[in-house]
Amino acid sequence: MAATEKSQPTLRTARLELVPLGPEHREHTMKLDMDPTVMKHVAFGRPFTEDEAIQVHTWLMSCATMVPGFGTWAGFADGEFVGWWILGPVPKKDSPEEYLTDRTEYGFRVSPKFWGQGYAKEGGREMIRHAFADLGLAEVIGETMTVNTASRAVMASCGLKHVETFFNTYPTPPPGIEEGEVRYSISREEWYATQEVSVSRDLKQQSWSPGTALYNFYGYLRKMLW
Ligand SMILES: CC(C)(COP(=O)(O)OP(=O)(O)OC[C@H]1O[C@@H](n2cnc3c(N)ncnc32)[C@H](O)[C@@H]1OP(=O)(O)O)[C@@H](O)C(=O)NCCC(=O)NCCS
Repeated sequence: MAATEKSQPTLRTARLELVPLGPEHREHTMKLDMDPTVMKHVAFGRPFTEDEAIQVHTWLMSCATMVPGFGTWAGFADGEFVGWWILGPVPKKDSPEEYLTDRTEYGFRVSPKFWGQGYAKEGGREMIRHAFADLGLAEVIGETMTVNTASRAVMASCGLKHVETFFNTYPTPPPGIEEGEVRYSISREEWYATQEVSVSRDLKQQSWSPGTALYNFYGYLRKMLW
């Protein structure tokens, strides 16, 4: 099915239920946006004001209307808000008010209570799976400040590679921006190749059965299609 026919579904991982971000999640996103620890290497390098946090929440929800299938998801573990994950639009270079439909920029913000427990990676990997396997996109990119070690580690853990360091000027530059910003990327072909590696590693550890043989054959077939 083409990306234009897609709407934003609820997604699930081992521990997370990822639901489309709605008005009922505003206090959760605002709490993150107004936390100085969370915002140290994001945007202005300071917590957003209440007004800014409201605007960001509205923008995060609006992503679902910019490119079909894209959007922001609120992640819950055992009913508790953990953070949010996004497949956001990438503006066209020659026409920035329009968006590419085959590429997305993914991102994430996790509540400090849950840091260091693998949640950003778990939700991030599901975003990437959704982008390639369900939406059929060509590329997922991620950008962050060079000094945002945690964000860079999450992107690397999700299989993205560093492709570029760039320098922008901002009216209110955040501390650390003098080291620039980094762009990470993974293509659909690269992602499917990593899936093949993990499938064949799993298969080597299993004894033969009709189910695993079929799975192996399906993996081979999928590889031939890309
Ligand atoms: C960045 C952030 C989402 C990481 O969330 P998290 O749930 O703690 O990350 P995970 O536990 O999934 O860690 C994933 C990987 O990153 C590594 N990592 C996480 N925090 C790290 C840190 N501070 N320094 C170095 N590595 C770190 C983990 O060791 C793990 O590596 P591994 O998969 O090789 O074992 C979280 O710190 C956050 O919300 N920060 C503020 C907002 C932000 O910067 N968002 C990104 C903006 S672009």
